[in-house]
Amino acid sequence: MRHLMNPLDFSVEELDRLLDLANDIEAHPEKYAHVCAGKKLATLFYEPSTRTRLSFEAAMLNLGGSVLGFSTADSSSASKGESVADTIRVISCYADICAMRHPKEGAPLVAAMKSGIPVINAGDGGHQHPTQTLTDLLTIRSLKGRLGNFTIGFCGDLKFGRTVHSLIQALIRYPNVHFLLISPEELRIPDAIRDDVLRRNRQNFQEVVRLEDALPRLDLLYMTRVQRERFFNEEDYVRMKDFYILDREKLELARKDMVILHPLPRVNEIAVEVDDDPRAAYFKQVQYGVYVRMALILTLLGMEDVAC
Ligand code: CP
Repeated sequence: MRHLMNPLDFSVEELDRLLDLANDIEAHPEKYAHVCAGKKLATLFYEPSTRTRLSFEAAMLNLGGSVLGFSTADSSSASKGESVADTIRVISCYADICAMRHPKEGAPLVAAMKSGIPVINAGDGGHQHPTQTLTDLLTIRSLKGRLGNFTIGFCGDLKFGRTVHSLIQALIRYPNVHFLLISPEELRIPDAIRDDVLRRNRQNFQEVVRLEDALPRLDLLYMTRVQRERFFNEEDYVRMKDFYILDREKLELARKDMVILHPLPRVNEIAVEVDDDPRAAYFKQVQYGVYVRMALILTLLGMEDVAC
């Protein structure tokens, strides 16, 4: 039985196969419409979500399966003190696979150790968000035609942004990726990523504060939200929240073929006027998230060849 805790749980070759499968699902959705008939996905969300939970549910429904679950800790027996380990033992009796989001780092791993079914980490605290990374890799490969040989800028909350941490770890396995890390001093990338991931693997990276300085050099811009829920006090959040706002005027500095990504939700960091720019790809990214989660469910259920 296989789980997904971290994007590095898949080798580069396995990831290639997963992304190929997602592309085939995109091209031929009818082939996959009933392959999971009789299978059930449980979504166990102890933290709010729109995209991740609903795209998992859409993915399983698109495969002909069913879904069950809860969307807040308050509506589950966690509110009565039930542990994650006990909950997953129970859910293993009801479902064939589960996706779990939890505010505590490592909670999905604890679940996986006690689970009778595959567990997918759907985001754990400020740690990892591997299915967002799969979404990002599929989006980049589909829109740029390659993974590697580009300069990518990560902008915003690089300290708490788990999507950023996961994607950097995934991208260092591809050739010739240059990282521009754009953040205010207080929200710089953690040492664990700068030293243990980027420096240790001799990656080409640079930290800058001004988005304007980075924009002309980028093939891809990955914007992120300053996350109110990760701050210890409101004052710091208010000071940081509008540090970066990508608008039409700033985009004049960027290349005509730069791709703008964002895991969403967005607050103010991308002006709504940018949505009509052909470089804005963040809503396409949402659609790729459904295809890649369909491919992931099939892979973890050992059904990746079912429609061939
Ligand atoms: N990108 C992402 O994780 O969005 P949600 O928090 O809405 O799931």
